[in-house]
Amino acid sequence: MHPRTKPDVLVIGGGIIGLVTAWRAAQRGLRAAVVDPEPGGGAAQVAAGMLAAVTELHYGEETLLGLNLASARRYPDFVAELQEAAGGADVGYRACGTLAVALDADDRAHLRELHALQSRSGLESEWLSGRECRRLEPMLAPGVRGGLRVDGDHQVDPRRLAAALVAACERAGVVLHRAWAERLTVVRDRAAGAVLGDGTEVAAGQVVLAAGSLSGRLGGVPDEVLPPVRPVKGQVLRLTVPSAYAPFLSRTVRAVVRGSHVYLVPRENGELVVGATSEELGWDTTVTAGGVYELLRDAHELVPGITELPLTETRAGLRPGSPDNAPLLGPTALPGLHLATGHYRNGVLLTPVTGDVMAEVLVTGALPDEARPFAAARFSSASGPADPASASASASGPADPASGSGSAPVSVGVS
Ligand code: GLY
Repeated sequence: MHPRTKPDVLVIGGGIIGLVTAWRAAQRGLRAAVVDPEPGGGAAQVAAGMLAAVTELHYGEETLLGLNLASARRYPDFVAELQEAAGGADVGYRACGTLAVALDADDRAHLRELHALQSRSGLESEWLSGRECRRLEPMLAPGVRGGLRVDGDHQVDPRRLAAALVAACERAGVVLHRAWAERLTVVRDRAAGAVLGDGTEVAAGQVVLAAGSLSGRLGGVPDEVLPPVRPVKGQVLRLTVPSAYAPFLSRTVRAVVRGSHVYLVPRENGELVVGATSEELGWDTTVTAGGVYELLRDAHELVPGITELPLTETRAGLRPGSPDNAPLLGPTALPGLHLATGHYRNGVLLTPVTGDVMAEVLVTGALPDEARPFAAARFSSASGPADPASASASASGPADPASGSGSAPVSVGVS
């Protein structure tokens, strides 16, 4: 598509969610454009890429579980299609499984509860003794008291996923405006495009706001349809496993240590990602000594040999949290404006299903059944064209007062 041709869809935010939306829309015959100063940047540059529908199951999130599982099931085909569309890129998808372990009696009780919840939800997970855990992963600490083996929770490399989505978009004719979106344009009570940081106006038939944690801050969006997303900081470390130490870990290993989640995600290329803190600190992305200390301390309790590895990177990113921890998808009360945001801890996992859902709603105007509980309008104070039946699926109250309400240029994607 020529950059001056009016797109059918303008996606604000070029993280993995914005990119997959644009790519899938282009595949369905829509002229698509993305605005972001750094397409493929954002939280995907920090995220570990666990596809952990089963091990990250939480009480009260059974509805979200359905969407997470639907997306996990799509991953193998999605990856194959994306890699081909991106010209043979490798996104580091690894069907390696996950082991969640317990270090003390409290952790063990917590894992037993999780196991019971998984069983009630019809999910496959197997309880292992400490010895069985260490047989699977010999680098685990001798004190490991037991664990849950979940062979269905895999991983992907979010950085390579983001790069492949940029390439697939470009090859599909998606126009990438490498700029900030300054504000939404509204013409005759309809979203009509965006004004970029340099004053350029991009008109579009429909607009998708997919700017991760910044989605609630775009100027020009009426208050009643601003998404109630807030930033939830995560600090993440990257280490390197020298080839002489390989295989250090053969699958993702995770635990809850003194109430904090820690996970170690081993890539085939030797990268070992250790995450993540979860901090409600607004827009702060400072890597702190305390954050790094806690991650290394907890990871060391789990896998003592980690202290031998080179520490190659420390970084913090912002998860886009929503009031019920689930994404906001599809039409808002402002005609022409859709949301694809609020994916919180599951942005990477939910990328395939989000692309499919958003393309469907952009082409047909109808939100697919699987996405109805996650209708964007469920937190809106305004009534609008979004399906009123899905609005009643709201699991929580009004917009989170902690979410940013001031306007700001917007670019960041999601984790
Ligand atoms: N899903 C991993 C995290 O949010 O840290």
